[in-house]
Formats: sequence, structure tokens, C-alpha cells
Amino acid sequence: MIHYDQETYKPEQNESVLDCLLRHGIAPPHSCRSGICQTCMMRAVKGNPTPVSQKGLKETLISQNYFLACSCIPQEDMEIALPDTQLFRKTTKVIDKALLSPNVLRLRLAAPDDYRYFAGQHTAIFKNKFLGRSYSLASVPGIDHFLEFHIRLLPDGQVSQWLQHEVHAGYSITISEPIGNCIYLDRYLERPLALIATGTGLAPLIGIARDALHKGHQGEIRIYHGVRTRHDLYLHDTLLKLSEQHSNVRYIPCVSRESVALPFHKGRANEIALNDIGNFAGWCVYLCGNPDMVNTTKRSVFLAGASLQDIHADAFIHSP
Ligand SMILES: Cc1cc2nc3c(=O)[nH]c(=O)nc-3n(C[C@H](O)[C@H](O)[C@H](O)COP(=O)(O)OP(=O)(O)OC[C@H]3O[C@@H](n4cnc5c(N)ncnc54)[C@H](O)[C@@H]3O)c2cc1C
Ligand code: FES
Repeated sequence: MIHYDQETYKPEQNESVLDCLLRHGIAPPHSCRSGICQTCMMRAVKGNPTPVSQKGLKETLISQNYFLACSCIPQEDMEIALPDTQLFRKTTKVIDKALLSPNVLRLRLAAPDDYRYFAGQHTAIFKNKFLGRSYSLASVPGIDHFLEFHIRLLPDGQVSQWLQHEVHAGYSITISEPIGNCIYLDRYLERPLALIATGTGLAPLIGIARDALHKGHQGEIRIYHGVRTRHDLYLHDTLLKLSEQHSNVRYIPCVSRESVALPFHKGRANEIALNDIGNFAGWCVYLCGNPDMVNTTKRSVFLAGASLQDIHADAFIHSP
């Protein structure tokens, strides 16, 4: 049984805590429902969360019985509660908003004093106590004094439409602690990096590229940005400039749905990268954006020689 907010709910066989609550009309915060975004974090007041539902959580949270409701199939009676938001949510101010393309909004927030993150991590942006969505950090600590996000504007998007229409400079906004392991590693200094993104999957990867260069990266950096039309190449000029400034950076804009001539490449970013590089032995690979692209490319680059420990990925899984 699950005891929550003075009520008791009976989960079905193999049903997660989150699915059980949703089936009973209770909607705690949640987004990806895949154990990635951590917006569904809850605390077990009584009973033990399963180890799998604590995967990826910090030790301090695990020791306080925090767990992810979407990946917890209860093995015993549990009394659960919403988390103490003071612990891992921060309130900060919007500094600036700008459209990078008709479908991509750049959002800059003031970096809270004690906000320690790595370029490439992601955080949840909350519209209210119950509704949050994951967004990747495009900024780089030590270089940027703000937190930057690239938000894809979805026509029915609850959070993206709110950010576009209701949130303005000076607005107070709540974000979660930074999460994730898709980050640059110092041991990669001399190694070639393949950064493959679709759409706003470029956000974490531009952060990782700038972070690597800031740390004196010596190896080659190839940035493949896959989009449907040229107008979706929302950082085209920035990336061209980066490749002009750094002889080890190559930018490959990939357009899948319209005819293009060089310097644009016709096709999907992952397929172009696979053809271009061929043998991935020794390469460090970063994949972000469309979940299908991320999952198929992980497998393909592994089969093409990349070592599993050198493949880093964030699939932008969205709410169903
Ligand atoms: C780790 C991680 C990092 C992410 N980083 C970013 C980022 O940096 N920038 C960014 O723009 N997004 C990012 N996302 C994806 C983002 O969290 C979702 O797209 C989010 O659901 C959009 O919220 P919304 O409230 O605007 O739309 P919702 O209200 O959640 O969705 C509205 C409708 O659009 C559909 N939908 C939602 N997202 C998508 C999508 N990506 N493709 C197609 N249909 C969709 C939904 O199923 C729904 O029908 C990330 C996701 C994860 C898991
Ligand atoms: S981790 Fe549970 S909803 Fe994303």
C-alpha cells in the first residue's frame, strides 16, 4: 500500500508509485517518467524505496530516503511525502530572453550564489510547485555569469509557452539542483570529441565545447548540428565564429528536410557523423536531443569502435 497525504492507494502489479498516484487522479511533479529528469523526487517517510529508484541521486538524498516515484515499484508498504523543496530548489531571477529562431527561446537566469554545476548538465525549471520540465545548461561556469537555456517552443507546451509569453526580465523563477553526467572530462584533453545534436540538443553541447576549449582542449572537436531546415540552425553564426577562432573546431550543419549546398550538409546529423568519422576508436562521443537519434547512435558509435565509457548522452525524453 502507498500512504500519501492522509489517503491510502493500492498499486497494481509492477505499477510505479507515480503511475499509481496518477491513476488515482493525484499528480505530483513529474516529466520524463523515465528516471532521468528527477522532477518526480519524493521522500519515503516509512518503508524503503527500491535501489533502482535512487539511481543517480546524491548520497545525501539517498540517506534521507529520497527516491524517484516514476521508477519505484514498491516492494513493501510505503508512506511517502513531497520533498522538502528548500533542499534542492533555488529561486532566481530572469535576466534576459531572446528568440534565437522562430522556435527556440534563449533564457538567461541569474546564477544563484551557491549554484555549482558543470557545463552540459540539466536542471528542472518549475512553472509552479507541481509542474517542472528539464532543460540543459548551455552556459559554462567560470566563463558566464548567468545560466543559459535554449528552450524549444512547443505549440501546446505548458512550460515553454509560459516562458515565452508570461515570463519577463526580473521575474522570479524556481529551478532544481543541476543533474547529469553528460559533461567534459579533464582526461579527454588530447582526445577527439564528436558532439552530435539534434534541435535544442545543441544547448548542452555548445556548453561542453566552450568548457573544453576554456580548459585548453588540444584534440579535434567536431560539432554536428542536425535540424530540418536551415532556419532551425539557431547558432549558425556563433558556431562558424567558434570554428574560425579555434583551428581544432569543425562545425558541420546538417539539414534533413530541404536541399542545401555546402557549407550545409544534406541529411541527418548522426548519419553524416558516422560516415564522416567511420572508425570511432579513440573518440569521445556526446549525443543530445531526440531520444531515437540518441539511442540508435549510441549503439552505432559503439559498434564503430567507441568505448562505452566514452559515450555520453542525454535523450530529451518528454512528457507523453
Ligand atoms: C535531460 C533532459 C534535458 C532536456 N533539455 C532540453 C533543452 O535544453 N531544451 C529543450 O527545448 N528541451 C529539453 N528537454 C526536453 C523538454 O524537457 C521537453 O520537451 C518538455 O516536455 C517541453 O515542455 P513543455 O511544457 O513546453 O511541453 P509539454 O507540455 O510537456 O508538451 C506539449 C506537447 O508536446 C509534446 N512534446 C513535448 N516535448 C516534445 C519534444 N521534444 N518533441 C516532440 N514533442 C514534444 C508532448 O508530448 C505534448 O503533447 C530536455 C529533456 C530532458 C529529459
Ligand atoms: S525522473 Fe521521474 S518523471 Fe523524470
